Amino acid sequence: RVAGPCVLVLFGVTGDLARKKLLPAIYDLANRGLLPPGFSLVGFARRDWKDQDFAQLTHDAVKEHARTPFREEVWKQLAEGIFFCPGEFTDDGAFDALAMMLKEIDQTRGTGGNYGFYLSVPPKFFPVVVEQLKRTGLANGPEGAWRRVVIEKPFGHDLRSAQELNAITSAVFPESSVFRIDHYLGKETVQNILALRFANNLFEPIWNRGYVDHVQITMAEDIGIGGRAGYYDGIGAARDVIQNHLLQLLALVAMEDPTSFGADSLRREKEKVLKAVQLPPDLSLSTARGRYGPGWQGGEPVAGYTQEDGISPDSITETYAAVKLEIANRRWAGVPFYLRTGKRLSRRVTEVAVIFQRAPHLPFSKDDTEILGQNALVIRVQPDEGITVRFGSKVPGTAMEVRDVSMDFAYGESFMESSPEAYERLLLDVLIGDPPLFPHQREVELSWKILDPIEEFWTTQGAPEEYPAGTWGPSSADEMMARDGRAWRRL
Ligand code: BG6
Repeated sequence: RVAGPCVLVLFGVTGDLARKKLLPAIYDLANRGLLPPGFSLVGFARRDWKDQDFAQLTHDAVKEHARTPFREEVWKQLAEGIFFCPGEFTDDGAFDALAMMLKEIDQTRGTGGNYGFYLSVPPKFFPVVVEQLKRTGLANGPEGAWRRVVIEKPFGHDLRSAQELNAITSAVFPESSVFRIDHYLGKETVQNILALRFANNLFEPIWNRGYVDHVQITMAEDIGIGGRAGYYDGIGAARDVIQNHLLQLLALVAMEDPTSFGADSLRREKEKVLKAVQLPPDLSLSTARGRYGPGWQGGEPVAGYTQEDGISPDSITETYAAVKLEIANRRWAGVPFYLRTGKRLSRRVTEVAVIFQRAPHLPFSKDDTEILGQNALVIRVQPDEGITVRFGSKVPGTAMEVRDVSMDFAYGESFMESSPEAYERLLLDVLIGDPPLFPHQREVELSWKILDPIEEFWTTQGAPEEYPAGTWGPSSADEMMARDGRAWRRL
């Protein structure tokens, strides 16, 4: 899979995402030989820069964040195709200049009028950029040339705004040209959920309410909000990651098998299961939220959320959210899916744990099985990527004592190949025009439909419960599990 000749135009080149993820990913693709000769990168921003300045920014970003080793010859070849177009999004002249520049690049570098437009900018700028692409004719290529637009979350902050946002892009680009990035879908371990379930016959027969007790999906981060107060405040943990990353994980774990991995059948199955998600009737019992207070992390004192720069002391934004969801279909009826995420927790770990029911009868004495847990299959998304199966085993000795042991698959031990960074995979898919790993607008809307009532309920609840930074979150989240006779996995 190698991309054909094309230009990638990046709006928002001075942002964090570009520096830490996008520019390094482009270099990594080049380094792996996956970009076509003539591939060109155009940066567009409100800076008085020349091509060399943008090339320098890219160079520094690559040196600092690329996954693959720096090779001078690869860099040199990439750098020949790096251009910069200065301007404001509202400046017609700047977009006319961009159109001219792209024409010239086509002529000198053979990119054939194939352009991808990556909007790594806050959503409030989407309308003006999309309008400019329409006005200049850049949104529609001549016969045989493709034009694609890439948008980053947040896709709105509720159902209505997501629909409005979509109306703006879909008035200019057909759905097949819109690539919505949910970078979790670009992660190897996330794609492997599909392989685990559908390339094997071992797990699927027990992947249902007959055997599964419940599912826990955890995305824990040790970092705080960093310099992202402007984005994060008023958004919070649930909108930031449950609406997208965690509900996508849920969809992959719970969906039926697609007939193929083509975009249509994959999305159809995800949509079906998202449509079947239901909230328990009493949200005060089935949700929990918190925000970090001052505490310790890595041996250092850290500030609480409301002491962070740019956060008002009256903020009621949550940095931790836990929700219990149910799936009303034959496979999952009665099996709760617990989702939790938080910042400034004890450590960074994302995992999906499928917890199985206890064996219906244990032919052992009670003492021999006292510490036996439930069987579990844990998909370790990150770090320490792999899969663990936990089951009971006889303790060597003359008695019939059983104890939990685990069987482990670790990427590092089983594969020589290194995993590409999520953005590398997704950028390549954009350039190739391969949509399965990009959520459809319908999935975005279904996810908001799940979240909107929760957010609405939370706005009536005042400030979230504070938890000390460096711990596992608010006690209300533990109580939520305890009410069901369960507990969060200790990680
Ligand atoms: C982003 C969120 O989508 O994902 C961030 O906006 C979060 O708040 C990040 O930190 C986590 O990504 P990853 O790949 O490090 O788990």
